Parts: sequence; C-alpha cells; structure tokens
Amino acid sequence: MYSAEFQESLKKVEANRAANTAMEPRRMTAQEKDDLLAAYHPDYKKSEFAELKFGPNKGESVPHELVEILQAHSRIKASDIDLSDVKYDVDVLIIGGGGAGTSAAIEAHNAGAKTMIVTKLRMGDANTMMAEGGIQAADKENDSPAQHFIDAFGGGHFMAKRELLEKLVCDAPGAIKWLNELGVEFDKDETGRMITTHGGGTSRKRMHAAKDYSGAEIMRTLRDEVINLGIEVVDFTSAIELILDENGHAAGAVLMNMETKELMVARAKTVIIATGGAGRMHYQGFPTSNHYGATADGLVLGYRAGAKLLYAHTLQYHPTGAAFPQQIFGALVTEKVRSLGAKLVNVNGEVFMHPLETRDVSAASIIRECSDRNNGVSTGSGKAVWLDTPMIELIGGEGTIEKRIPAMMRMFGSYGIDIRKEPILVYPTLHYQNGGLDITPDGQTTNVENLFVAGEAVGGIHGTNRLMGNSLLDVIVFGRNAGVHAAAKAKNVNVGKLTLDHIAKFDAEREAAGVKTDAVSPKLLPDYRGNKQGM
Ligand code: FUM
Repeated sequence: MYSAEFQESLKKVEANRAANTAMEPRRMTAQEKDDLLAAYHPDYKKSEFAELKFGPNKGESVPHELVEILQAHSRIKASDIDLSDVKYDVDVLIIGGGGAGTSAAIEAHNAGAKTMIVTKLRMGDANTMMAEGGIQAADKENDSPAQHFIDAFGGGHFMAKRELLEKLVCDAPGAIKWLNELGVEFDKDETGRMITTHGGGTSRKRMHAAKDYSGAEIMRTLRDEVINLGIEVVDFTSAIELILDENGHAAGAVLMNMETKELMVARAKTVIIATGGAGRMHYQGFPTSNHYGATADGLVLGYRAGAKLLYAHTLQYHPTGAAFPQQIFGALVTEKVRSLGAKLVNVNGEVFMHPLETRDVSAASIIRECSDRNNGVSTGSGKAVWLDTPMIELIGGEGTIEKRIPAMMRMFGSYGIDIRKEPILVYPTLHYQNGGLDITPDGQTTNVENLFVAGEAVGGIHGTNRLMGNSLLDVIVFGRNAGVHAAAKAKNVNVGKLTLDHIAKFDAEREAAGVKTDAVSPKLLPDYRGNKQGM
C-alpha cells in the first residue's frame, strides 16, 4: 500500500524489526520527562493560551478557543423564554447520553427518581462509544486499589483531587462487576477469568477490554439497559442554558430541538451535566479522536451559571492518532497496540522511546522526534512516526492482531494496509479534556447547589494527565455516583421560582471586564466550513 516515497524508511524499519522487538528501551528519568514536556507538550505552549477576564475562573489561562466559548453570549435572551410553560418536569435531568449520562440515568431511575436524558444527537453518540483499549480496575490478586491510586496519581503529576481519585480506584472493581452483570462481553480466557493487560504508566496488568472496541461494547450494554428500564430519552435536542431557581440552585434547562430550533423548558429538582469532552474544539489545530458532538458544552453551561472549572488548561493529546492515510487522519490507534508489543520507530528505523511512557510524555516525545530532531516520516500532510505493528505477531504469535485488535486491523485494512505485515504512521491527536467542572465526591459542583457533573466534563479526577482506561472507568464510577446522589438529593428539593437571571448577570460581568465578542455558545457542533481540522 505504501508508495515509493515511504520505501526507503520502511526498509530500515523491516531490517531492524527483530532487534527492535527484542530490545527493552529504557524509561526516561523524571527530569528528562519534565524537560521534554516543557519543551514539546502543547499544554506548555503559552502563546496558545489566554486569560479568562471574568466568571468563576477569572485570571486563569485556558486555550484561546475555550476562552472564546466560555466568555461568549448565550444563545437566548431570557425574555425569549416563558419559564411557566414547562414541557418536561422531572426529578433528575441528565444532559448527555454517553457512558456517564446513561450510567447516571440507570442509577437514578433505580433509586426511584423520575429521570430523563436529553441528548443533542442520539443516545450513545459519545466518546464512550469511541473508546477502544479498555477500562482499568484493580481486581486481581497481585493488585490493589492503593496500587492503582499510586499509578494514576503519579501519571497525573500528583495533581488529582485525592478524594475523587480514591473513589475512582476503590469503586473500580465494583464497576467491572456491574458491567459484567449487565452483559458487557469482556475478553476472558478459557477458564472464564478476565484477560487484563498493561497501559502506559500502569504497574500491574489491570486493563479489562472487549477486544479493541471496549467502549462500543459498554455503550451498547448501557443503552440497552436504559431502553429496557423505560427511561425517557429526548434525542436530537440540546440543552443550551441551565435554569436556576430564585435561590440560585440548578433547576432545569432550556432545551432546543436541533432540527426545528424549537425552545422548551425542562424543570428538574437536580441536574446532571454529562456532556463529555472537547476534541471538536480542535485546540491548537490538532485533529481529534473524538465524536462529532464533543464541543465542551457542559463547561459553558456550568460556567455561565457560576460553576467553577478545575484544570481547564490541560488537554490530553493521545500519542497515536492515525497520521496516514488522510481519510482517517486523527482517528484513535489504541494504546493497546503498544500494550501488545508494538514499538514507536522513527524514519531511520530506530526505537526512540519506551512505548508505554505516560501519554503526555509519549505525545511530547513523538512531537520532538518529528520537529527538532527531524526524524519524522513525511506523510504528505505533515510528519509522523512508525508504530511497528508486525512486532505484535512476532511476540504474541500469528493471529494475535486479528484476535485482540480486530478493529485496528479492519480500519487500516480498508485502506490497503495490512497491519500484521506493515507498520502504521501515527502522530498525536486531541483525545481528552483533563480539566472540567469542579466537583465534590458526591458528584455535585463545588458551588452550584443541585448541579451535578459526571464523566469527561468533570475536572480533577485524574490530575493534569490521565492514564489509559481510567476514562471509561470514570464515566461508570462517577456516572453511577452522580445518579445515586442526584436522586437522593431530589427527594428533599422544593424547586423555587425559575429564573434565567444569570444570563444578564454574566452579560454585565462581560461588559464590566471590557470584553467584546460576537461569539455565542454552547457551540453544539463543529463547523468545518473553510478548514480541514475535521478530516
Ligand atoms: O488508547 C486507547 O485505547 C484509549 C483509551 C483511553 O483513552 O482510556
């Protein structure tokens, strides 16, 4: 499949393959990692950030693109909406129909709450569905939640909110059990024991997977459960503004039908934001592995209503986005490919790093190889490095790729690349939002009563870098947790008079800060007219 311009480099990769497979690359020292990140990781590129001039995080620097939507105008004027005309009246309103939203809905419903999911696309159109490599849980004899905590805390640069991370790792074995009992088809050996592998930064094999479509399998199961339980789902409808009550507590949302643009009022005793990530913001011009609706909507809704953000300046660039062919530019090449033995190799056929460094370090290392070191392979649309997939068959035996990562084999196979025989070209892709809304362990925002958050819209669970497999885990753990607590809280809430006064308050703050903008938010969907970031 690879044309003539790749052949010289490919020959070197092939010639070195046996030796490269056998070698054990050394790990970087802590100092080497710090220096590498400071010089090459996009989070450290100051020119790509700007200061928030007003709102709960005034004075903090976040990506330009995020500043724009956080400081933007509402899509509505309060006077456009008749808040007495309530179309939906529920106990728990969940905004978002991905892994976190559906997990929350199942638990809230099971706790007896009248529960509704509103989702701007369809239930399951979410980053959960796109997740490939697996879900971490310390549920084997040689492992423990404490060990899991240490790995994730270190990988996140010791910045995670300890109480959130503690909950994540302690509830992990129960999350796997819950999913297994709901019907998720995890990979198991002939004795029925779950197969687990390493991810970057893990000291134990604790990655549970359903081949390399773990997220799709989990989402299938959660979606079936929501349907089986008869939970109300309003799809193709976005939440465009939160509604507060006269006490400043979250009390619902203004909804917009995505097709007709009809506006509707949903009143709720508690609200859960589960809107997912932000890959379609294409920070710094990166392509993304994220689904089409990942535009940071929950951060905007929460921020305008007064909720604080935590670590909104940190994003995750997955080290191995597909860099060739152009049709799949930015698509996820799961870390599981490296867990199974494939190494990263430069244009000269040299292994230049340990394949399972943590993600931020791996991404920065690839960027360095392709920039200052000038060791990247030209793809026609930029530089990239090889991920030498045939090594997997050398290590695991013939058939390993088809058995363990069939989706990867199929994705590249569609473009004539047989990953069992040929390496693939990769470069970092925007993958995950480490930051988000600040919550307490019950899932509630730290400063807006009755407003809960779950999944990728939460900040602080992982610190400033997340390990593979801890995102599928957090959508389940914190999704369920938010559902339980939001349902319990709803029992004692009397919703006061509904208001949208926070919009005018936010406008006044913008005016006072001297910020001039025509932007409106939430963005809801990306706009690809005139740019190629979404290719
Ligand atoms: O590489 C992956 O399969 C991604 C996993 C994750 O982000 O947790």
